Amino acid sequence: MTILVTGAAGFIGSNFVLDWFKQYSEDVVSLDLLTYAGNRENLSALESNPKHHFVWGNISDSKLVDALLKKYHIRAIIHFAAESHVDRSILSPDDFVQTNILGTYRLLESARLYWQNLNQTLKETFRFIHVSTDEVYGSLSASESAFTEKHRYEPRSPYSSSKAASDLMAHAWFCTYGLPVITTNCSNNYGPYQFPEKLIPLCILNALKGKSLPIYGDGKQIRDWLYVKDHCGAIFKILNNGRIGETYNIGGMNEKTNLEVVQSICDILDQFKPKVDGKSYFDQVTFIKDRPGHDKRYAIDAKKIQSELNWKAQEPFEAGLRKTVLWYLDNQDWVDHIFTGEYQQWIKKQYL
Ligand code: NAD
Ligand code: DAU
Repeated sequence: MTILVTGAAGFIGSNFVLDWFKQYSEDVVSLDLLTYAGNRENLSALESNPKHHFVWGNISDSKLVDALLKKYHIRAIIHFAAESHVDRSILSPDDFVQTNILGTYRLLESARLYWQNLNQTLKETFRFIHVSTDEVYGSLSASESAFTEKHRYEPRSPYSSSKAASDLMAHAWFCTYGLPVITTNCSNNYGPYQFPEKLIPLCILNALKGKSLPIYGDGKQIRDWLYVKDHCGAIFKILNNGRIGETYNIGGMNEKTNLEVVQSICDILDQFKPKVDGKSYFDQVTFIKDRPGHDKRYAIDAKKIQSELNWKAQEPFEAGLRKTVLWYLDNQDWVDHIFTGEYQQWIKKQYL
């Protein structure tokens, strides 16, 4: 049998598929629309692997998805595909509604129709893992406790509200039809293959190009950072042993302000790629206009996944960040290919 991974050419999806083949021998169908954020190069290590089947397509294309589910005898769907960048959602929310809400709806329907016709044993073992975000819970003040799975939904951006809608539908498909859905709500990921529109890769690459490191507002917003491989490890555990109909929060218990994160990136670059003038990359920090509706703080309480599935983040932030910075330094070809017309246009629209 085979698993279907949507959004497999994106940041987390590609790390997931690469890590899958380090542990398992089961086939993977990678379905991806290859939007600006999707990059086939992320999966190039698997090009000659006969167990990996890349399909260029849209999760909303029900005919295509129905055919893939049947052809490959899919036993689980890991649903990463999404529009994922908050700033883009503020400038143009339409794609977020199309993919995150309507696309997830179509995928759930394809999964349901396929699953209903499976025999009883296959029906019981089938899984739909809906990968979502901590942003659905909204923004915490400094003194509030971290998000548990019971925290109310209070999304505040077009991105997080579209993900919240998809979470609610996924859960409804479990309650109403019995589709074996499990939802995950994870905190900020970092690591290799992240598209440089997000804070960490943007700052690494801007620093190296001598450009400014743009900090929104006062830079005191807090995120709970998790190394991407730890997120993938959590999803493996949930796929294998998670309880259907449940939600699992995934996080690093690693809260940092944006300024602390950028300081750490600069310290690593100062060590591994010192500037010729002897100054620190941190001098390139520039404070710019804040993100509208900027969420102040996210923090995940990951006790449930820890106690039920014995999962805990393994990678300490300093070590994970060093690996990440070195990955970008060592993968100049990948970086060069990202700097396409679309990326330049985005940078102009958002920062100039
Ligand atoms: P990403 O933007 O890097 O990748 C998204 C992928 O989905 C891309 O390859 C894109 O081509 C593909 N895609 C977009 N629309 C599609 C469609 N209609 N059909 C098929 N493929 C499509 O995103 P990411 O950071 O890897 O996030 C993956 C998932 O994890 C998302 O659902 C996101 O909400 C969630 N998540 C991300 C983070 C994070 O910190 N990055 C944290 C928690 C949850
Ligand atoms: O919490 C999980 C979420 O984390 C995921 O669901 C999203 O897909 C992912 O993009 C991420 O969302 P954020 O908005 O937290 O990530 P981003 O990297 O865009 O921003 C991190 C913080 O840094 C945030 O407080 C905004 C700030 N920032 C970001 C950029 C791009 C800046 O100060 N300057 C910037 O240029």
